[in-house]
Amino acid sequence: MTETAIKALCKQHATPFYVLEEDKVKERVAFLRSHLPKDVALCYAVKANTFLIPALMTQVERLEICSPGELAICRRVGAPMAQYVVSGVHKEAGVIEDLVKEGVETGTPAGLYTVESKTQLALLQQAAEKYHTVLPVLLRLTSGNQFGLDESDVEAIVAERKNRPSLSIRGIQYFSGTQKTSLKRLKRELDRLDDFLERLKDTYGYEAEELEFGPGLPVTYFAGDTFEEEPFLQGFSELLENLRFSGAITLELGRSMAASCGQYVTKVVDVKQNRGESYAIVDGGMHQIVYFGQSLAMKQPGIHLYSEHEAEGDHKWNICGSLCTANDMLVKQMPLPNLHVGDVLAFQKTGAYCLTEGIALFLSRDIPKVLWVPSNGPVTILRHAIQTEAMNTPMIKEEKGE
Ligand SMILES: Cc1ncc(COP(=O)(O)O)c(C=O)c1O
Repeated sequence: MTETAIKALCKQHATPFYVLEEDKVKERVAFLRSHLPKDVALCYAVKANTFLIPALMTQVERLEICSPGELAICRRVGAPMAQYVVSGVHKEAGVIEDLVKEGVETGTPAGLYTVESKTQLALLQQAAEKYHTVLPVLLRLTSGNQFGLDESDVEAIVAERKNRPSLSIRGIQYFSGTQKTSLKRLKRELDRLDDFLERLKDTYGYEAEELEFGPGLPVTYFAGDTFEEEPFLQGFSELLENLRFSGAITLELGRSMAASCGQYVTKVVDVKQNRGESYAIVDGGMHQIVYFGQSLAMKQPGIHLYSEHEAEGDHKWNICGSLCTANDMLVKQMPLPNLHVGDVLAFQKTGAYCLTEGIALFLSRDIPKVLWVPSNGPVTILRHAIQTEAMNTPMIKEEKGE
């Protein structure tokens, strides 16, 4: 967006707000596709930013959903059930049952379910049997934490698959973390998965139809980051192409798809010098913006300054939010010209996780508005600012009915 466009938004809408651009997110998916093997499918992990679901559901094959709330959002915006990968470490029995029942009754079942434990296996089996259907499932293999199933459990489930005709085991899901910049690490993971899939074939005669893999593709957020994306994606593509596994591959992605389309726009509300340090206080804060890898505000994310004043001077600014904690420091020692009250700071690449990971209720400040810049047509509001003080207010006697 141009300076003029951001300034125009600031005239119409109170800061802080997020602004998301349709063109940018679609271009980003096209970029990823053009740098990945042709036959690889894409799954958007909606936890990264649920406001992008309507734009992305036409750009990707699948949507990964990890909670009843995410499920409700996908349904409300009309995302097709066939795209859903119903995932998550805690699957509520009632939600799963209702979904299976509805799929049978309407003939539009959810695309896939993941199995993260033996409890979930039993839950899905029961639901499938109750409604006389077969559920397509992926077995999530653990990467060594609370998620997914141990290798030995996956093997046992595969070995006994004929005893569970109501579950059709399509393959394996695997995700081990985000912001992975090491091709060596990805190679290690993919080699291990490849060996495991071979073992399932050799030992149990089970040939997985598909692998759903979350590579945790990285986003460069900070000044001085030296990561080069194109050679990295080329190297990653070669790893995928060299797998012995010949089934379908889907890549589950959140950050890498969503980050670049968003900006977080906040205004300077105060400036001061304390003990020789320059501080700018903004009307947003750390409850609304999360940069993965930002350590104690030492790293410098991309920030665009929009001011009515001539750029002069060259200070090192500590940019602080509105919360009553010394931790609410967004950036330390950011080189910027003189800042003034009313200046606008647009934090770049905030389309992934910022809207969903902030500690929104701290200090009972409002949750920001979300604006949408469509490819064609005027800017629209995707969410009004939400007051949070009601959520932090104890019920009074009358409300409790006492
Ligand atoms: C299972 C799963 N898949 C995919 C993702 C998306 O990861 P990223 O945003 O690093 O692409 C996540 C993120 O937590 C996840 O838990």
